[in-house]
Amino acid sequence: MQQDATSPSEDDQLFRLLRQLDQRPDASQRATAGALGISLGTLNAQLRAATEAGHIRVATRNGPDRRQRYTYELTTKGAAAKARLTDQFLSRKLAEYDALHAELTGTESGLLHLKKRTPLMQSNLAPIPELYVSYDSAQKLKHEAAALPSWDLSQRQVCDLELLMNGGFHPLKGFLTEADYDSVVDTMRLTTGELWPMPVTLDVSEDFAAKVEPGEDIALRDAEGVILAIMSVTDKWEPNKTREAEKVFGADDIAHPAVNYLHHKAGKVYLGGPITGIQQPVHYDFKARRDTPNELRAYFRKLGWRKIVAFQTRNPLHRAHQELTFRAAKEAQANLLIHPVVGMTKPGDVDHFTRVRCYEAVLGQYPASTTHMSLLNLAMRMGGPREALWHAIIRKNHGLTHFIVGRDHAGPGKNSQGKDFYDPYAAQELVRQHQEEVGIEMVDFKQMVYVQEKAQYYPVDEVPEGSTVLDISGTELRRRLREGLEIPEWFSFPEVVQELRRTSPPRAKQGFTVFFTGLSGSGKSTIANALMVKLMEMGGRPTTLLDGDVVRKHLSSELGFSKEHRDINIRRIGYVASEITKNGGIAICAPIAPYTATRRAVREMIEAFGAFIEVHVATSVEECERRDRKGLYKLAREGKIKEFTGISDPYEAPEHPELRVETENVDVDNCAHQVLLKLESMGLIKA
Ligand code: PPS
Repeated sequence: MQQDATSPSEDDQLFRLLRQLDQRPDASQRATAGALGISLGTLNAQLRAATEAGHIRVATRNGPDRRQRYTYELTTKGAAAKARLTDQFLSRKLAEYDALHAELTGTESGLLHLKKRTPLMQSNLAPIPELYVSYDSAQKLKHEAAALPSWDLSQRQVCDLELLMNGGFHPLKGFLTEADYDSVVDTMRLTTGELWPMPVTLDVSEDFAAKVEPGEDIALRDAEGVILAIMSVTDKWEPNKTREAEKVFGADDIAHPAVNYLHHKAGKVYLGGPITGIQQPVHYDFKARRDTPNELRAYFRKLGWRKIVAFQTRNPLHRAHQELTFRAAKEAQANLLIHPVVGMTKPGDVDHFTRVRCYEAVLGQYPASTTHMSLLNLAMRMGGPREALWHAIIRKNHGLTHFIVGRDHAGPGKNSQGKDFYDPYAAQELVRQHQEEVGIEMVDFKQMVYVQEKAQYYPVDEVPEGSTVLDISGTELRRRLREGLEIPEWFSFPEVVQELRRTSPPRAKQGFTVFFTGLSGSGKSTIANALMVKLMEMGGRPTTLLDGDVVRKHLSSELGFSKEHRDINIRRIGYVASEITKNGGIAICAPIAPYTATRRAVREMIEAFGAFIEVHVATSVEECERRDRKGLYKLAREGKIKEFTGISDPYEAPEHPELRVETENVDVDNCAHQVLLKLESMGLIKA
């Protein structure tokens, strides 16, 4: 028996055998043969073939019962084959079921005609294949995996893996191979022709990639070191990231969060290959609100829900969203699933803890018997149209029949020229083109706005003529929260506003980071010191100074000045500053921080918790050299210090800092005062 045997009967035999061994690895041969309905001789032949093909391994067992001398365990290859064959088996059974139905009732059926299928047979309620092995096999594989090279997954990779393993990314069986990746990037399809618009890849560092060759297995671990899966690596390659950015996200512009991630966070090398799932990632929060695709399907089956419309969101729900979801459910004559993303969303979004508390607060506004809420651990890419289509496929996998696509679905905001990355209705257009093939119906919506005279919400294109339209944008809402201003009842629910205010106190009470950057000797430390003293004089918030020299002594004493080491140094500063900011303090940083991308990464870390104020101390290199306070420029000119910023190493000046201070002919007190004025104008301190 070959692994790739295509004859259904051989595949079927192998499938049944693997399933049986997976479920009862310790059963006697007689019991296994009995369960499979075959003779002992046939079983032995099948066991031999499966062992030779590398699907199972035989172990001897000491015990009194000679009939139980051997035990058979699935190998990683066997577990992957089982997952593939389960999938084949299920789809063939569904097709047979459809055909039988057609024969018995005389009505047209068939898997492709979704709309004509009777409710009982709807494939959205049948189980979807997962990539997990049974508990017993998982325990064994876990032991084996401990000896494999292991990769610690990033937060995004854990999200991807969870949806791969639980069927949310069906039909993927693992991280994309090179051929599938190329095909997805170019055509939005896998090499099998199936629709799949988003590359789901395992990016790793060059160091790790050098230790792994195709044909080997690796263990995939979460941040705490727990083994979640084994991946059989089939492919290893260096992707062309510029091409990926242009084709998938529409532009190689790092203003796009996914493009920035691609260039500055993702590893250089991609690994591809099938996954054998050992266990789900552990979640300690909102456990009861998280459902796998099969759990949701079972829930819909139990409640007898046949048509269910999904609402995807990464924002708190306000009245406009409620109106939109009500209308969508009514239009589709369907039940409603509020399906918010809690994995990773756009940097700067309201954190998911706050959002879920907000969702729970508004859930009471919906009739309980018609609406359900479930959390989706997806890592969004903000990929607009492609992402909307991806979301539709994911929802189809979760058993949904309808999917709401609104204005600018999964939009990443403005590009570096200040223009929108995507047309606001391009996502709807792409989903419309493919909805039939995906097997989920789109419910498209225009933006909802409040009409004052009617005291109700309308889609923006249905507003009665001459009426007064009210709307509060996301930016305006953030401003009102920041400044502690009123948020009107027509816009949101009091419970939601209260939750938001709890986590976003007015700016004058939030933590923030002032990040000075500039050449060595530009005056960063002196101004930073003066600023700290002035802030401490004002009081109110704990203030910490993370000066370049001080950090190098206490946090980064082992680091030098290569690009790699400078980046590590700045990220450490960013991490400490983000913790200070998160806890309501003021962090003042004063490193050289010569690279734009690293400063941006630090900004992202901090803006998740409070304001980030980049201050460029713009003293020219000539002036710094003239001052040469520490005598370092002289040494650098003599070549005695290598990689010296501004002399033999680059300094990328910030293009759009919050503030730029000139120090030539301006005293320190004045420079620090300029920063204070900036902080005041941003509402971070009171005059
Ligand atoms: S970086 O690039 O941000 O990690 O540098 P930083 O940690 O701020 O540098 C701290 C001080 O190190 C001294 N120094 C050098 N600077 C630049 N290039 C080279 N090769 C170098 N070697 C030593 C320098 O005095 C920096 O202090 P400041 O306060 O900026 O003058």
